[in-house]
Amino acid sequence: MVNAPAEQKKLPSWWSGGSVVYQIYPASFKDDNGDGYGDLRGIINKLGHIKSLGVDAIWICPHYKSPRVDEGLYVDTDIHEPFGTREDCQELIDAVHAHGMKIMFDLVVNHCSDQHAWFKESRSSKTNPKRDWFYWKPPRMIDGVRHPPNNWRSCFGGSVWEWDEHTQEYYLHYFCPEQPDLNWENPETRQAIYNDAIRYWLDRGVDGFRIDTVNMYSKYLDFPDAKVVAPETLWQPAGDFFSNGPRLQEFLREMRKETFSKYDCFTIGELPNTPSLEKILSYISTDAEALDCTILFDLADLDHRGGQYPLMGRNWALSQFKALTAFAQQLAEPEHKAHALTYLENHDQARSVTRYASDAPEHRLTSSKLLATYLLTLSGSIIIYEGQEIGMINAPKDWDIDTEYLDVNTINTWREIKHDAKVQNDPSLLERGRAGIQLTARDHARTPMQWDGSENAGFSSNPDAKPWYRVMESYAEGLNVAAQEDDPNSTLNFYRQLVSLRKAHKDLFILGRFQLLDPGNDQTMLFTKTALDGSQVAFVALNFSAEKQPFELPIELTARQNQLLISTLGKSSESRELDAYEARVYLA
Ligand code: NOJ
Repeated sequence: MVNAPAEQKKLPSWWSGGSVVYQIYPASFKDDNGDGYGDLRGIINKLGHIKSLGVDAIWICPHYKSPRVDEGLYVDTDIHEPFGTREDCQELIDAVHAHGMKIMFDLVVNHCSDQHAWFKESRSSKTNPKRDWFYWKPPRMIDGVRHPPNNWRSCFGGSVWEWDEHTQEYYLHYFCPEQPDLNWENPETRQAIYNDAIRYWLDRGVDGFRIDTVNMYSKYLDFPDAKVVAPETLWQPAGDFFSNGPRLQEFLREMRKETFSKYDCFTIGELPNTPSLEKILSYISTDAEALDCTILFDLADLDHRGGQYPLMGRNWALSQFKALTAFAQQLAEPEHKAHALTYLENHDQARSVTRYASDAPEHRLTSSKLLATYLLTLSGSIIIYEGQEIGMINAPKDWDIDTEYLDVNTINTWREIKHDAKVQNDPSLLERGRAGIQLTARDHARTPMQWDGSENAGFSSNPDAKPWYRVMESYAEGLNVAAQEDDPNSTLNFYRQLVSLRKAHKDLFILGRFQLLDPGNDQTMLFTKTALDGSQVAFVALNFSAEKQPFELPIELTARQNQLLISTLGKSSESRELDAYEARVYLA
């Protein structure tokens, strides 16, 4: 089914009434051809499972041809060979539509692969017509010694500048050296991006994109040095320089006008380093005509990124988590003419049960339901990441970081921490680094999906295939789809129940006004959701602690006839004490 171009992007669209999007990490979802690596046919075979959750759309992480240094975050119209062919891809698009769902792809156009034809041409000589499609700079010479043009630290460690021996210049890469940044200043580059990375897929039926690091396209062209906050290292964090550059609005509007506006599609843009409401709205309010909604980072970063090493843990309090939720829920208020989006997990985030609640065997089931209740009662659109629906948890602590963790960010950060701990003779740095990685590394979200209790959790069709990532042992402890399928009390069936309640009470859970109660309480999170016409109120009570916690029904509920709509522990509606990690939702 082809997504027919329209004259103008019109609302309401398929997503604007609030959609639940299921995110897939193709390498780890399901291996159909038995090579130990997930593939597109694996996704096709599991569409029944996804549909059974009641979700509206799927988003698949990059499946494009790439050397996969950063697991496929590059632009290309070809498919990464181990995932399948272009035909498989078209079949997937059509099969998702046949299941009554929408499909979103990943749009990665801040950078491309250093193996992409565009970059190969660009680096071939200083006079190549594509030289200016990337950022090339001469070295900064200090006392006759060559240095990169500035002191910015790349997102994955080291300098953002890579020396090219052949043409004797540096090129810019905010992420890995294998991911050179595209020069959006060049109109020809922008047109090629619109054509190859966007229209190409929309014309094949794709219904939208998650847009990678969308606020990094416009650079501060003088590339000033960042403030030195980590004097012991050469490279300084420069997130504020990476994001929201001077021409960003213009680029986003042009991209929308020339591509998205002509299709019925959904755009979700990543906005790191953007804490201001006004700034966010300048991209996602309908008046801005830029993006439809955003992935924000403050809540996801709450337990790490405290200092120089991105994966180092930091203390956080539930009151901060609640305040950040309230902040993001403002985007759903009609006066802002925007659309809110909430997620707890994705391919860049470790498992939420471990991070925000408890993965102890006695608490993990309740914790997963607590977080499901939080997520699915918030207004706007929601992302559920593969494995979240069965309450997957982080890798066990005895996994060796040096051999079992494969993510480039983890590898680089761990290398830096080990080096610095040695130089500074500080064993506690090593311990804090290890703990941070065990809690927040991206690896925890990238291990194979746990389908059943058979060898390797049923991830591969070939029981003898070695999965590309180690499978977590928790699959044998009930954290697999088959075990939860027939258990009415499982996390999986709770997700199904909640998605369906969310839709049945759309005015409250998708469109309702969020009001945080008792904001300073660091054990419980209490909030109301009120229908915009005031006709109904829901009250959500969540205990994020391992101890029993008292709560009161708010006046909005006691003043009306109320009922307990759902409870994770099946407690009576009269009790005013939440058990460890219990969640309840009342309706009035
Ligand atoms: C954000 C993506 O979500 C992440 O996975 C990736 O490493 C970087 N952008 C670079 O593309």
